[in-house]
Amino acid sequence: MTRILINDIGRQLANHLPDIESAVLTTMRSGQFVLGPKVSEFEIAFADYCGVGHAVGVGNGTDALEIALRALDIGPGDRVLTVANAGGYASSAIRTCGATPLYVDVDESTMQVSVTAFAKALELRPHAAIITHLFGKLAPIDHLISMAEGTNMALIEDCAQAHGARLGKRSAGTFGVMGCFSFYPTKNLGALGDGGAVITNDPYLAEKIKSLRQYGWQAKYQVTRSGGRNSRLDEMQAAVLLARLPSLDKNNERRREIADEYRHGIRHPYIRFPDRGGRSDVVHLLVIQCKHRAALRVHLESNDIASDIHYPQPDHRQPAYIDEEILLPVTEKLVSEILTLPCYPAMTGSEVQRVIEACNGFPIHDI
Ligand SMILES: Cc1ncc(COP(=O)(O)O)c(C=O)c1O
Repeated sequence: MTRILINDIGRQLANHLPDIESAVLTTMRSGQFVLGPKVSEFEIAFADYCGVGHAVGVGNGTDALEIALRALDIGPGDRVLTVANAGGYASSAIRTCGATPLYVDVDESTMQVSVTAFAKALELRPHAAIITHLFGKLAPIDHLISMAEGTNMALIEDCAQAHGARLGKRSAGTFGVMGCFSFYPTKNLGALGDGGAVITNDPYLAEKIKSLRQYGWQAKYQVTRSGGRNSRLDEMQAAVLLARLPSLDKNNERRREIADEYRHGIRHPYIRFPDRGGRSDVVHLLVIQCKHRAALRVHLESNDIASDIHYPQPDHRQPAYIDEEILLPVTEKLVSEILTLPCYPAMTGSEVQRVIEACNGFPIHDI
């Protein structure tokens, strides 16, 4: 029996190898490696795909968040609303800017930011919010946007797990002032290394992001903005992303199919699925909830099926930032119950069935 991995990037790439190899070779021969024509081409293609005016390539998804915050002049003394169950990337960006995260709890059935907690946190007048579309499912973004209306709080969307997710005709990342993406290799749109982008409809913000990603330059060697740094998307990654972008929707559809098969096929009293999102959500990580998670993991492992936990430690409980004052009961409850099952486009039908059968065979008397 071959092992079912949590993700298999090699197998994913194998399906697109000729296109990717030719993109890499052409770029290598071009002699241009950083912020060249492939980056511009990808920025246009990705902006077009998202239906937005501007996309600016940056070094990775965490930089995208940080640069987006800096473009809003967020800095020391500012509070940025966010959740604590999304892997710590937003927290890292907020703290790097010198600002303070204002953590809000999540909804148990969706695992996304809680609308009630968001409303309450608005009373503390945060300066900005980073809303993560976690696991590929859209946060209740239209509600949040209308609740934030009339406040001075700018809303940034973290779409690192939601490439291609849509609400009606609008793409994730186009509701707030900016949308931030990661192209880390495991993402729904992945490069062969680090990469990221910020999208926006605001030309002023787009120019600011372009300057901040390159030392604060207005023109070469002319620094007109403070807070700039080096965070550029390179040509090789842009070429790979351009080659992979046309398959994104098809791959997202396959992820949805697998998630649906799990949802219909897994029938076990201890395994719960989060609420199903709209049909235009995408699946990045397939996360279930199980009160007996440790035993389920051991059982899956005995069937040669990998699982993982996204994420094992909420941000406010990380040793570097531990703060006893913060209470997020739902976030903390979920952290002991969540379990990620394998779900990626290159999975075969029989692998999907094996996961379903293994879950259904999780012995109740073992607990
Ligand atoms: C929700 C979320 N935000 C941000 C990031 C950060 O992306 P990167 O790893 O490219 O910095 C990730 C990726 O790991 C993520 O999953």
